[in-house]
Amino acid sequence: MKYLVQNGVVVTPVNRFKADILVGDGIIQAIGAKLPESPDAQRIDASGKYVLPGAVDVHTHMALPFGGTVSSDDFADGTAAAAFGGVTTIIDFAIQAKGEKLADTVSKRRALADGMVYIDYGLHVSITDFTPAAMEEMVDIIKAGCPTFKLFMVYPDWAADDYTLLNAIKRASRNNGMIGVHAENLNLVTRNVAELLAAGKTEPKYHEVSRPDYVEAEAVARAIMWAEVGEGKLYVVHLSTARGLDKIRQAQRQGYPIMCETCPQYLVLTKDKYNEPDFGGAKYVMSPPLRSDADRDALWKGLASGEISNVGSDHCPFSMDQKKLGIAGFDKIPNGAPGVETTLMLLHSEGVLKGRITLEKMVEVTSQNPARIFGLRQKGAIEVGKDADLVVFDPKLKRRLGYQTLHTKNDYSPYEGLEVTGVPVLTMSRGVVVCDNGKLIGSKGAGRFVERKL
Ligand code: URP
Ligand code: ZN
Ligand code: ZN
Repeated sequence: MKYLVQNGVVVTPVNRFKADILVGDGIIQAIGAKLPESPDAQRIDASGKYVLPGAVDVHTHMALPFGGTVSSDDFADGTAAAAFGGVTTIIDFAIQAKGEKLADTVSKRRALADGMVYIDYGLHVSITDFTPAAMEEMVDIIKAGCPTFKLFMVYPDWAADDYTLLNAIKRASRNNGMIGVHAENLNLVTRNVAELLAAGKTEPKYHEVSRPDYVEAEAVARAIMWAEVGEGKLYVVHLSTARGLDKIRQAQRQGYPIMCETCPQYLVLTKDKYNEPDFGGAKYVMSPPLRSDADRDALWKGLASGEISNVGSDHCPFSMDQKKLGIAGFDKIPNGAPGVETTLMLLHSEGVLKGRITLEKMVEVTSQNPARIFGLRQKGAIEVGKDADLVVFDPKLKRRLGYQTLHTKNDYSPYEGLEVTGVPVLTMSRGVVVCDNGKLIGSKGAGRFVERKL
């Protein structure tokens, strides 16, 4: 099937221009003003709309086992929601079980995703059992198309100590891989949580109290130290604080290859949400937690200036019933919230329309940079020869966000009731329309595993 996307405004990280796009054999075949129509190409009218490269969300957790339960979107639900939100590629996390070979970690994850995904996907590997064999195997995993690893500095069952982190950074960097870190200080979090619970402070809002901004900033600084010593690259996931960003800025100015992402929740929501009554604060229990207005402003500025290279959603939904696992103590509330579907709408409405970032920057941080940083060579740009992963985005369409109209299987949205302006109305993945005007018309299993190379 061929398509001719006509009369849209094509947006790139550096400019925007009116053009038609011819799509065939899954790739972009031509871009130009008034391309000739042909009987074998179906027309898509994008008049008055933007045509964006499909968003690349490098941080999702479909069906993630966490805290005695499993995040509520499987790969079918989660990638359908992603497509509705204009996301055409995700990179999810394969988390190693204790004693498991990393190759098995990847194949188990692929068994859950292949045949289910509506869009393309890749995998990061999270090592949790730091045996010499696992460290050795990193190189094979990089060669097999999963060159990026997330190491947790927190969560006792998964956490990497400093020795491991330093050596993993060295090993990945010397072999065309990269380490990402979840940067929070395990010791401080553990001690704070114990102290709060002992004082009877069990409600969701104490999750945030247990993780002040320096919990993140110290871990960011420490990970940067290991990247400097190990002469390697580092990527900080889900950065949430101005203090953490200060550490990253300092290192970047000294010339170290340190990159980071933030997430829409840290750009749009603040910690006052934890005061929602009737256990409502549990909806926002995620790690790191929501922060202050000042942190939020600093993150927008970091995005605009390029210190923060991209936005990932950290999509990790749990239903309110699942959240109630922590009714007696906030430490048992499964961490995470939905977000894969709302990133583009939020960045446009809260970012572009409020003058915090340009439209071009939105495209850079949601498509180009994540594709480049994570080695997705066919993705993230509207260029002849690239995969035809396209989004037709109506910048004037308004929508009130709510869980009933969003497509994640979750029973709440952290953005319930928020009105956004600008909505993806058509999403195409490798030249096939997946969502059109609110309808899912793609096929389950049409998405492919993408081998990446840094
Ligand atoms: O709260 C979060 N972020 N849950 C998902 C797991 C992680 O740490 O990214
Ligand atoms: Zn994390
Ligand atoms: Zn995450």
